[in-house]
Amino acid sequence: MGATVVIGAQWGDEGKGKLIDYLAAKSDYVVRFHGGNNAGHTVVVNGKKYPFHLVPSGILHKNTIGIIANGVIIDLEILSSEIKMLQDNGIKLKNKLFISERCHLILPYHKALDEAYENARGKNKLGTTKRGIGPAFSDKVSYNGIRLYELRNWEDFEKNFKFQAKIKNEILKTFGVEPVNISKELQKLKELRKEILPYIADTFLMLQNASLKKKRVLMEGAHGVMLDVDFSPYPFSTGSNVIAGAVSIGAGVKPSQIGNIIAVVKAYTSRVGGGPIPTELDEVSDQYKRKVNGTTLDKKAAKHLREVGQEYGTTTGRPRRVGWLDLEAVRYACEVGGATQVCITKPDVLSGLGEIKVCVEYKLNGKSISASSCGYNELAKVKPLYKTFKGWSENISGINKFQDLPKNCQLYMKFIESYLGLPIKFISTGSDRNETIRL
Ligand code: GDP
Ligand code: IMO
Ligand code: MG
Repeated sequence: MGATVVIGAQWGDEGKGKLIDYLAAKSDYVVRFHGGNNAGHTVVVNGKKYPFHLVPSGILHKNTIGIIANGVIIDLEILSSEIKMLQDNGIKLKNKLFISERCHLILPYHKALDEAYENARGKNKLGTTKRGIGPAFSDKVSYNGIRLYELRNWEDFEKNFKFQAKIKNEILKTFGVEPVNISKELQKLKELRKEILPYIADTFLMLQNASLKKKRVLMEGAHGVMLDVDFSPYPFSTGSNVIAGAVSIGAGVKPSQIGNIIAVVKAYTSRVGGGPIPTELDEVSDQYKRKVNGTTLDKKAAKHLREVGQEYGTTTGRPRRVGWLDLEAVRYACEVGGATQVCITKPDVLSGLGEIKVCVEYKLNGKSISASSCGYNELAKVKPLYKTFKGWSENISGINKFQDLPKNCQLYMKFIESYLGLPIKFISTGSDRNETIRL
């Protein structure tokens, strides 16, 4: 039995946190392996909401150990406030949360640079979360990053931080942006250091030992394959690799140690930030207006999906852009992501829609085109071909048997399964842990 990997198969916010919490009940370890606190994973237990950004979403279970592995980039302030939130809720993290010292830090100048680049792009901005993700990852690969490792020795850290911050401040000045206050930031970081250092561990070794002892390991993917830095329509991407293979880089888990790969698919499409989404039903702001893609806008359906689905960002509170399920994108994401199973989330949001559409093919200039061949220019222009399904009016929230779903909902699920050629193993029918069908 290898590690189970959960990945998002769309543009993020598919409901990965919900599934991770559900699966973590029977996992010994839950591991974040890439990305940073641009992720916002929501877990709901008995009506209480827990938003996670860095701490693995499976940590609420008494016997489940959380690991933040080397591939994750960390904003210490966010991590500290998340640890506090959990402790205030009675979750003790001593000997329960472990963090790799190989993790790179998101530092104040990364956030300032993210913002400065976005502002400089003006109306062509990408719509990042402004959490400093791109600048922190670019420092990592240009050998200008600072890792948690450095924090073990304050003098080393201080020296490195000052060197980097001075360079970044020069860049910030060219953007006409306020430079970061080096001594004030160092003061803050010195405090945070004391708090975080006790969590440091050799997470690679921990996971290798876990594998030897046949422990159940759950890998928590963030974002979605359509945001993968290599496989998405770059630059409308995030800074990390999102496909399942990223667990080898981000946690040292070998390909041979990987078991099932579960692709989480929302029953419709949502996205925050810029970039084309072929099945979009309206535009939340002019900035994201598509050039041409042949889609008929349907503001009523969009309003339904956004309001019933509560499509507002966990990380930024931004209204998410919404559209019909794009199976061409999902098919590609499952293929490149290596999915072996599927989890469908939020079909309950579709209740009450007279008809439901699903994109089954992209056409560009009259010819079929695969999502893998689409850069952002093509994706903005493709014409989605739709298959239309009859909707259902019943409220399906909380249903936990497949046969209790309305017939039309069952047909919708069966179609997705046959289109993707992958078994649907989970259907989430509500945000709460218990609102899940296991097939
Ligand atoms: P993630 O980033 O993939 O973990 O997803 P988010 O947590 O950002 O967004 C998913 C949202 O949908 C959260 O508010 C969840 O609580 C909620 N959610 C998850 N599954 C379901 C579901 O099956 N039905 C409904 N109505 N909400 C769900
Ligand atoms: P979870 O894990 C939705 C998007 C941003 C933006 C682009 C680049 O909650 O599914 P970044 O700040 O990463 O440089 O922004 O990527 N993005 C996400 N969208 N959910 C996420 O994570 C996201 N992580 C990044 O909105 O379009
Ligand atoms: Mg999210």
